[in-house]
Amino acid sequence: MKILVTGGTGYIGAHTVVELQQSGYEVVIIDNLSNSYPDVVQSIQKITGILPVFEKIEMCDKRQLEDFFTRNPDIAGVIHFAAFKAVGESAQYPLKYYHNNLFSLINLLSCMQDFHINTLVFSSSCTVYGQPETLPVHEQSPILPASSAYGETKQISEKIITDQTGTTELKTIMLRYFNPIGAHESALIGELPLGVPSNLVPFITQTAIGKRDYLNVWGNDYDTPDGTCIRDYIYVADLAKAHVTALNRLTGTANEKKCELFNLGTGNGNSVLEVIHSFERVSGIKLNYRFAPRREGDVAKIWADCSLANNVLGWKAEKNLDEMMLSAWNWEKHLAETGNN
Ligand code: UD1
Repeated sequence: MKILVTGGTGYIGAHTVVELQQSGYEVVIIDNLSNSYPDVVQSIQKITGILPVFEKIEMCDKRQLEDFFTRNPDIAGVIHFAAFKAVGESAQYPLKYYHNNLFSLINLLSCMQDFHINTLVFSSSCTVYGQPETLPVHEQSPILPASSAYGETKQISEKIITDQTGTTELKTIMLRYFNPIGAHESALIGELPLGVPSNLVPFITQTAIGKRDYLNVWGNDYDTPDGTCIRDYIYVADLAKAHVTALNRLTGTANEKKCELFNLGTGNGNSVLEVIHSFERVSGIKLNYRFAPRREGDVAKIWADCSLANNVLGWKAEKNLDEMMLSAWNWEKHLAETGNN
């Protein structure tokens, strides 16, 4: 069965391509390479023995997408990752986020309808919950005002998909990720943002390897035990496996509703300082960090109730924080050893 993975050279996308191939799916990747490198497909091949087909396509240009689907009439389903995802940047450049994340989704859904492709797994985010009043958050928790334009695009995207699913043959599973971190155990693929990372873990590992002078901890005056923000960090390969499970559910018509959604996290919250200390523990390196003002768009604390994914999908996160941080560090060291950073 041939699956289109949009954003498949990106961080979560690449890990998901590996899991899909290892589960017997044939994968075609499209990506505009705005935050990834094309040679990730060779790294995927080293892990799985299969070179995924890759095309550089700008999804905001509908003609490029239509042309792609015309040439690939046998796509059975789509996993849609391609999107901008930096909370802080989106507060600064909201239009960039609305334009990219929404046009690409609308073009995709429109093509899927025209080309009769009815299976979609969508990459959503815990950001749709805003700053929740009660924790942990479960799927029925209220959708509160988003704290960033990035969050708005995920809320609007979920609404667009829900409406499209309600009025067409489309079947969808929307996966609300918490904070994906770490790298594949082979250390051949991992998180490698272009330019200065905005996410915490690549910034930590790049500081430790000497690429950055120090890490700014954005805010230590939050209403949390140590004053720094709390997130639910989840291992990227665990997350990737959930996509295969979701796809199997849709293609095997095991889904109970046409549009389902699941939280994907560990159920545990860790502060920024706890993440730093975990890194220091597993790497043996003392991290150079300093406290800085709060980052616009950040929520103070959020972690998941994952019982729905555990019980209905039969999926559970496996790795703990130290294991995740060690995998991220192994990846950073691999980049340094191979001269890729
Ligand atoms: C957000 C989303 C998450 C999404 C991710 C995609 C929320 C609540 N979460 O994660 O669902 O998958 O974007 O990028 O909206 N930090 C520092 N210094 C740094 C970088 C980060 O202190 O240099 C802190 C942040 O303030 C935050 C934590 O580390 O408290 C995690 O930040 P980050 O990795 O950027 O992810 P989120 O913004 O939480």
